[in-house]
Amino acid sequence: MNARSNGRASASRNQREIAWDRYWSEVYRFESLQPGGFTRWAMPFLRAAEVRHVVDLGCGPGRDMCFLLEQGYVVVGVDCSSVAEALAAKSLVRLPAEARARSQLVRAELLPFLESQATASIGAVHASATYQDLSDLELTRLFHEVSRVLVAGGVHLWSVRSERHAGKARPDTVPPNFPELGFSVPLRFFSREDITGLAGNLFENLALEEVETAPGFFAFYAADRKPPRS
Ligand SMILES: C[S@@+](CC[C@H](N)C(=O)[O-])C[C@H]1O[C@@H](n2cnc3c(N)ncnc32)[C@H](O)[C@@H]1O
Repeated sequence: MNARSNGRASASRNQREIAWDRYWSEVYRFESLQPGGFTRWAMPFLRAAEVRHVVDLGCGPGRDMCFLLEQGYVVVGVDCSSVAEALAAKSLVRLPAEARARSQLVRAELLPFLESQATASIGAVHASATYQDLSDLELTRLFHEVSRVLVAGGVHLWSVRSERHAGKARPDTVPPNFPELGFSVPLRFFSREDITGLAGNLFENLALEEVETAPGFFAFYAADRKPPRS
């Protein structure tokens, strides 16, 4: 992966970093190397793309990143939270040295990180439940950057909460918006139209599925591909 700079988070922490740092240090207690359901769903699309380099945007404590490394990929995990980065580093230690050697953790905001990457340098971008606190402008810029950094035929595998998710009515129940943390991060819930609109002409949609991940918890799973060169 060819980095022009590492796109690191600036010294002053924004509200998003503070929220996620507090969530991962004060609320999260579940340490597991089991990948999420979305990543299992996305694997056939990743395999079919025949790529080797994956960027995991918003990798959190690294459960999906570890799984992708076990599957033989070269994986860069990116997260703005220093607590998530430390948890991910701890997860990576449990992997065999050979798999660990294919990993890199970067603490950064997503957009500066993507902007620091060379054009057509990444095989796949994976983002599980990461895009829900981005503004309209950030999302539009992010999708353009993902398209730019992917190789032709590369895949964008992403999941977000759907507008049918129970948390839409009770955002205080959705991480990291727990009342005891004393702040909230604006969260969005996506419609099918939001998702197809974001992919626009930049990507071909390979699959889009609405899944109930737990009672009342609905998410969209999306697999998009940057068109192969004609
Ligand atoms: C809901 S968690 C998902 C973690 C992981 N993908 C998983 O499924 O286990 C979202 C993660 O994305 C990170 N994140 C959210 N917005 C971000 C941004 N703009 N830049 C960098 N990281 C971000 C948060 O710090 C958090 O660790």
